[in-house]
Amino acid sequence: MAERSSFVVVANRLPVDEVTTPDGERQWRTSPGGLVTALHPVLTEHGGTWIGWAGGTGEAPEPFELEGIHIHPVPLSADELERYYEGQSNATIWPLYHDAVETPVYKRRWRETYRLVNQRFAQAAAEVADEGATVWVQDYQLQLVPAMLRELRPDLRIGFFLHIPFPPIELFMQMPFRAEVLRGLLGADLVGFQQRLAAQNFVRLARHLLGLRYEGQSIQVDGRKVKAGAFPISIDTREMERMAADPKVQARAKEIRAELGDPKTIILGVDRLDYTKGIELRLKAFRELLADGKLKVGDAVMVQVATPSRERVEHYQTLRVKVEREVGRINGEFGRVGVPAVHYLHQSYSKQELAAMYVAADVMMVTPLRDGMNLVAKEYVACRADTGGALVLSEFAGAATELRQAFLCNPHDPDGVKDALLRAVAAEPAELKRRMRVMQRHLRTHDVAQWARTFLDALAEAAGGREIDEPQ
Ligand code: ADP
Ligand code: F6P
Repeated sequence: MAERSSFVVVANRLPVDEVTTPDGERQWRTSPGGLVTALHPVLTEHGGTWIGWAGGTGEAPEPFELEGIHIHPVPLSADELERYYEGQSNATIWPLYHDAVETPVYKRRWRETYRLVNQRFAQAAAEVADEGATVWVQDYQLQLVPAMLRELRPDLRIGFFLHIPFPPIELFMQMPFRAEVLRGLLGADLVGFQQRLAAQNFVRLARHLLGLRYEGQSIQVDGRKVKAGAFPISIDTREMERMAADPKVQARAKEIRAELGDPKTIILGVDRLDYTKGIELRLKAFRELLADGKLKVGDAVMVQVATPSRERVEHYQTLRVKVEREVGRINGEFGRVGVPAVHYLHQSYSKQELAAMYVAADVMMVTPLRDGMNLVAKEYVACRADTGGALVLSEFAGAATELRQAFLCNPHDPDGVKDALLRAVAAEPAELKRRMRVMQRHLRTHDVAQWARTFLDALAEAAGGREIDEPQ
């Protein structure tokens, strides 16, 4: 029988990676990520459990303990991976919730598997949660879990946080099992979103679709109150600052600049290779500026890190072809022998290497068509303690609500993107410093620990009863 916990996190992925040590032994290691960093103190203090998928298919590893956290793997078969993760989560819900910038695909068998897998996660949470425990369910892959878990364990305090946008009513209404998804979420005591507008979409939807009454952000459901609210997620700001200041990272940043030919301007993009991220439009803006003679190869170089992601989903395969074609076109038209215009890197990197790239970059381009938050934008700001560097940021990224001193642009307007990029390239150091300082101050007080604390406080208030200690 699994150990019982008074604090349980339920997420699609476990915060661990399996690595091979130099002597060939397979070992689990916590994966570096803001969420696990933020929740680590509260998890260790409460003998907390993290429930999630360990990657791979077939039988899941037995539950184990790592750095004071109980790790509870949930299995997925190859069929389930295809239908629940690649299908329903990433070919239906992901595009629909991101303004349908790609056409969502609807398949009945995907929905059925999504339901089945959500039930498995809910069952696992019901088994490990102590009487009256707090269970925090994460993200769009698990929207049915709150209601399923409440059915199994009405004694629990259940929170849900959606890391991606929540769409307006008219888009959500496309979803074939829309009422079930909404009821799933309403199983929580508190449903958290990145943005105030998303929380508003949710409460309005509850009235529109289920005829539920609400007052402010509080919805009446089956004699209970369900609260909705905005809790913009953030990064471990101090850790990011510390990493960027590390002499090894600083030296690596200089090396990267030298490897790129010490150009005047390094323009950087770091994204999962995802169609929501606006990688193509960013490349096109760069191409047009080269063609207009406003930027010159050699003076300016673009580095685009495009992390491999969801590679078996068709939308992602099509995107890869388009992005790689555009990179080829730009380099073909504007590159010189030994001096490409765009360095394209379809690879994963360590946090240190990413920090070195941020430190090396003069302009960071974050141009999603829609993004729940975009942590890359925040990481870049945190890494620029030298207060150099300029952030070009899409108004459609959640981060734009907080990082108002970025060079904001509308990613649907190519001229607007070009203009923001040129302004960022040409800005005086004093102006860049002023902008960067304000954004850095904001991130120091609004870090991921503050995010977790605020959510858990609000959950305690929404559900009432026993307090749980919060992360520091
Ligand atoms: P999303 O959650 O949609 O992927 P975010 O920008 O919010 O987008 O978060 C991406 C996270 O992944 C950031 O913490 C970033 O540092 C990390 N990341 C992005 N690209 C890479 C890469 N190539 N290698 C390692 N980490 C990466
Ligand atoms: O932020 C959205 C999200 O899907 C997270 O849930 C996830 O950690 C990240 O993007 C990467 O996606 P995936 O788990 O599909 O590789």
